Amino acid sequence: MYRTHNCGELRMEHVGQTVTLSGWVQGSRDKGFMMWIDLRDRYGITQLFFNENSTDADLFTKARTLGREYVVKVTGKVLERSSKTNKIETGDIEIEVSELEILNESLTPPFTIADDSDGGDDLRMKYRYLDIRRNPVKNKLMFRSKMAVETRKYLSDQNFCEVETPFLIKSTPEGARDFVVPSRMNAGQFYALPQSPQTFKQLLMVGGMDRYFQIVKCFRDEDLRSDRQPEFTQIDCEMAFVTQEEILQTFEGLTKYLFKTILGKELSDFPRMSYDKAMKLYGSDKPDTRFDMTFVELNDIAQGKGFGVFDSAELVVGINAKGQAGEYSNKDIKNLTAWLQRPQIGAKGLVYVKFEENGSIKSSVGKFFSDDDLKVWGEKMGAEKGDMLLILSGETDKVRSQLNDLRLEMGDRMGLKDPNQYNPLWVVDFPLLEWDEDSNRFHAMHHPFTAPKKEDVANMLNGDHETMKALRADAYDLVLNGSEIGGGSIRIHDRTLQAKNFKLLGFTEEEAQEQFGFLMGAFEYGAPPHGGIAFGFDRLCAVMNGETSIRDFIAFPKNNQGRDVMIDGPAKISQEQLNELFLQSTAPTETES
Ligand code: AMO
Repeated sequence: MYRTHNCGELRMEHVGQTVTLSGWVQGSRDKGFMMWIDLRDRYGITQLFFNENSTDADLFTKARTLGREYVVKVTGKVLERSSKTNKIETGDIEIEVSELEILNESLTPPFTIADDSDGGDDLRMKYRYLDIRRNPVKNKLMFRSKMAVETRKYLSDQNFCEVETPFLIKSTPEGARDFVVPSRMNAGQFYALPQSPQTFKQLLMVGGMDRYFQIVKCFRDEDLRSDRQPEFTQIDCEMAFVTQEEILQTFEGLTKYLFKTILGKELSDFPRMSYDKAMKLYGSDKPDTRFDMTFVELNDIAQGKGFGVFDSAELVVGINAKGQAGEYSNKDIKNLTAWLQRPQIGAKGLVYVKFEENGSIKSSVGKFFSDDDLKVWGEKMGAEKGDMLLILSGETDKVRSQLNDLRLEMGDRMGLKDPNQYNPLWVVDFPLLEWDEDSNRFHAMHHPFTAPKKEDVANMLNGDHETMKALRADAYDLVLNGSEIGGGSIRIHDRTLQAKNFKLLGFTEEEAQEQFGFLMGAFEYGAPPHGGIAFGFDRLCAVMNGETSIRDFIAFPKNNQGRDVMIDGPAKISQEQLNELFLQSTAPTETES
């Protein structure tokens, strides 16, 4: 037997017992005739004690040879410690070791296995299995496991049935690129890995499964960020015979349940905000509502006074950075302006107005606007002495997005993003379609299977181009502290409407038939009204821990170049494999086959 107890288990009540433990050597302290070793496993750390006087001499010598991360098995008596510590759960006891077996030796690890590691990101990724021995990573993986268990419990109790859908499928367009897998048995043809099980879960509804869920891997070949991985996990759900309201209630219920059971936090009912309002007040469809600093539009009072930049702008809009007038010197403003002008944000410039504590007003546009003009802006924006207005202008969509970046940055700088505060928000009433000037066509705002609102169906079937821009969908996102945690919609379940949607999205009838014939065909066999949602599981785990990066909630994540540096993938494959997959010019031509 390798162990009678684990390394986090022993307490005062075990004193006097003889126990066996196995684990890794965390470190040792050698005082000549006495030696202590910390033994670690997933459950905790237990102190081992070796005393030259009472310990067998060979055993003492052997203990001295133990290096960091050696794997050992020890047997000994549980003693009460003379100097107790509350830093570890087993801090009241130690084991006086009578037997020691080295199960495996270890090279010196390339970084310290401790809560604060000295290893850089790349090194820790390369030796991810060692990184996982560290509490911060291990605890996140354990948190994730608990979340999955509780999610399954909640959804099963609500009659959801877990069904696995295939990974080798045909492309489902959801906005990102597909990862593709060549098919050996079908020369020149490719599977795609699912960006989500979207069409399959809809087919499960046609199949009468009524309530489906799956904790499922999804694959998207998109640019990576701290909250995006090429393979990530969704809590994917679909329900038949439901309204949007029932879906929101069910998944608000799931979120509250997870917060309660896992974090012990009661969330009150989630507020809702229309997409339009979110864009107008926050310039984002995923506003961080932990702090205000909402947008105030100034076109009516800032235009027509001879300041050309504002006069020619579609939108003049600002935020009030409370109490910041005294914090920003001219140089600081210059730096902030440069930050906004970086290509990632692309603002043209920044206008500020400072309402100084002494009553004076300072502004970058003082030449064009009198103090009285600026006071009117201040009133509209709720400014008091000490506040600083930050104003941008230009094309509506661009300016909103730039001011959103600025608001979030100011939120950080002003310490307004309390990591212990959780502000969920349903963003609802998304537009159905989004016009893309560059490609001169509509894109689905959520995905091509999303239904328009009932009152917009007639317009969708018969309306002109401008009408299409105004169509609203029964689509919703769950936002938590500015992070998009989940999204879903009521689906189209009618063949004609689905065909119309594909047409609006620029598919020819043949293309729609080729790509989605299976779905439209299914809609001919009694598809029930249905809808659903998918939560980003990795993101939910991260945000519940007050973090924005999802990396450490994934056991073996990819880096920002999409590489797994531990296994060194992706990698080349042999010519033989390539040939077998017809990936080179060896694929038979049509006449040959
Ligand atoms: P959507 O594309 O909005 O909807 O995805 C749902 C949620 O998945 C998370 N997510 C990601 N997490 C990590 N890395 C990524 N690359 C990534 N991409 C998305 C987000 C997002 O809110 N089939 C629909 C759902 C539906 O309509 O039911 C879908 O996939 O948290």
